[in-house]
Amino acid sequence: MKISILTLFPEMFKGFFSESIIKRAIKAGKVEVEMINFRDFSTRKHQQVDDTTYGGGAGMVLAVEPIYRALQSIPDIESAVKILLTPQGEPYHQERANTLAQADHIVLVCGHYEGFDDRIRNFIDLEISIGDYVLTGGEIPAMAIVDSVIRLLPGVLTNSDSYTQDSFYDGMLEYPQYTKPYDFMGYKVPDVLISGNHQEIDKWRRNEAEKRTRERRPDLLEKPNKKH
Ligand code: ADE
Repeated sequence: MKISILTLFPEMFKGFFSESIIKRAIKAGKVEVEMINFRDFSTRKHQQVDDTTYGGGAGMVLAVEPIYRALQSIPDIESAVKILLTPQGEPYHQERANTLAQADHIVLVCGHYEGFDDRIRNFIDLEISIGDYVLTGGEIPAMAIVDSVIRLLPGVLTNSDSYTQDSFYDGMLEYPQYTKPYDFMGYKVPDVLISGNHQEIDKWRRNEAEKRTRERRPDLLEKPNKKH
């Protein structure tokens, strides 16, 4: 898979790409990441990328041409999934991460300032929001998407960090997990987990996952495409 990221702040991604599972995936060639600073595609004075808003009002708006030119500079851009990060986008979910993980090439466009010239929407395939709150830019949403997609690519997670037990994997939250010590300040590990009875353990985990989902996220149980 290839991921192209259009941003005015490529430095923000440095730490993210140089740690842990993401770093390992890039090193192993499971994913190729390309950073494109669309300021490089500005033809205005001082490489300006934003301007005042037509109709008046405070604040600046990102111009369409530098982003358009940056997109056009990407080979085979027509076949890539082009995504705009915006609070106005489709709410991001595990199911979307699963479908994006099937793509050969995704392009993430990170905005900044007060928003985009709306005409950029003619050149993208999908708009994604990571939640109903406004961030200063699309970089953190882009990292969230890249992280959630890369971990699904074949061979990225080892068996020990397998995603099949994840929250949301089967449309439910994950069951509670414990490790040593058995007794921490009087809080003990549930006895069933040390019983050695795998059938009982599976049953307990299924029940706990369902109970937790019902308590915290009953909306997940209403979804028509849930797998349980
Ligand atoms: N840009 C600013 N806020 C955002 C959000 N919540 N989701 C996606 N992109 C954004």
